[in-house]
Amino acid sequence: MSQTDSIVILDGAKRTPRADILINNKEPGLFSRFSATQLGGLAIKGTLDNTNVDNGLVGHVVMGMAQHSHRDSIYGAKGMAWRGGLGKTVPALTVARICGSGAESIAVGAEMITAGLRHDKKRPFMVVGGAESMQYPFCLYNYRGKKVGAAVQKYGPIDTKGLAAGTHLQDMLLMSLYDPSAEMAMANTAEELGRRFEISRTEADEFAFRSQSLAKDNRDAGHFKEETVAVTVDSGPDSMVVEHDTHIMDNISMAKMGRLPAAFEAGGIVTAGNASAVVDGGAAMVIGKESDAAKHDVKPLARIAGIGVAACDSRIMGYGPVPATEIALANAGIEGKEIDRVELNEAFAPQAIACIRDFGKMGIDPAKVNMMGGAIALGHPLGATGSILTLTCAYALRRKGERYGLVTMCIGGGQGISLIIEAL
Ligand SMILES: CC(C)(COP(=O)(O)OP(=O)(O)OC[C@H]1O[C@@H](n2cnc3c(N)ncnc32)[C@H](O)[C@@H]1OP(=O)(O)O)[C@@H](O)C(=O)NCCC(=O)NCCS
Repeated sequence: MSQTDSIVILDGAKRTPRADILINNKEPGLFSRFSATQLGGLAIKGTLDNTNVDNGLVGHVVMGMAQHSHRDSIYGAKGMAWRGGLGKTVPALTVARICGSGAESIAVGAEMITAGLRHDKKRPFMVVGGAESMQYPFCLYNYRGKKVGAAVQKYGPIDTKGLAAGTHLQDMLLMSLYDPSAEMAMANTAEELGRRFEISRTEADEFAFRSQSLAKDNRDAGHFKEETVAVTVDSGPDSMVVEHDTHIMDNISMAKMGRLPAAFEAGGIVTAGNASAVVDGGAAMVIGKESDAAKHDVKPLARIAGIGVAACDSRIMGYGPVPATEIALANAGIEGKEIDRVELNEAFAPQAIACIRDFGKMGIDPAKVNMMGGAIALGHPLGATGSILTLTCAYALRRKGERYGLVTMCIGGGQGISLIIEAL
């Protein structure tokens, strides 16, 4: 692709803060009242308000969302588009590549524009991003023995008194994080990588400590500010404005972390302190051809230089970023040593450490990975993460005067996705 036809991310991209699904394991999380489409809508609105592009020039919306976690999730990207302020005539596509959905939306949007087959040339810009409400519901199982017609006008809660025998609740959050192909939960695949790479509990905790410390330092220095749109949570007199990611811990110590029990298997090294936090959030950005950005006088932030997607054994799903990055580097036509900054999703410390070790073999400097912290401190709202990391990376490249950034994440079920962006 020639430089002038590159797909660029426009300046002004925004994300919501990432909010823990629970406060102190008791109270509902700050975003617990928002569905994924509402979170996506907040991110899109924040982005359109900050990107100097006329909404009438947005021809399509592509948003990632891993799980249909709310009653309006079926409307997906279209629900996010209208909530974000886009008109009824803007089509919208929801994409799902589990934990890579927010990166996949950028890839799909870029490819749709580049391929041109269904690109609306009169409205050349596209909104891409992702959102996830991880307030996954408890679902009733063994319950459908009821004529739809009888209930069709109700659209409300089910009267539980008449439930058939054998009907029971399942926790969709826990069920989703268990992969039947691997016959284990995502966290246990990270334990498996820990064993294969001989990673110790201390190494995992040190990695988590670094993540928390860097996230706190960067929050305190205001480095997340330009990418974040504050969210007002309106609950009457207790209305409040959420500005920061809620899982960043102010007082962590290696000693305290070392005392946390293994969360997923006896003798394991994954704990609540070194696993990604379960949070809600959304992100969005406007993309388009560099030539259209110039034509409409809007400022590009970064160019999408290369994309890679790869698959691996689901029992080591956390390793996916390594083969995906090999492909992305080749597609970008650059070498690992040229990467100035990496945003690697920290699903679990052992998983991230394993990837970083093998990134080293590609010439990627381990010190350049997650210099602003990662999901252990900041959280991993599955369908939003890829978009969040992309805009974090893009703004940081600009702030630091760097050139190439790698954004990469593992994907439950055994995949990885990588984007290489170049600051403009
Ligand atoms: C690991 C996991 C189960 C922990 O959930 P949780 O128990 O609800 O986590 P909490 O945040 O409540 O932490 C548990 C305890 O550890 C403490 N803790 C957490 N991080 C800590 C740290 N860095 N230092 C000290 N204490 C810490 C908490 O304060 C809490 O203490 P309490 O029980 O006294 O209140 C959850 O975060 C998880 O499943 N993460 C992975 C999600 C996932 O699989 N995503 C997909 C990836 S592919």
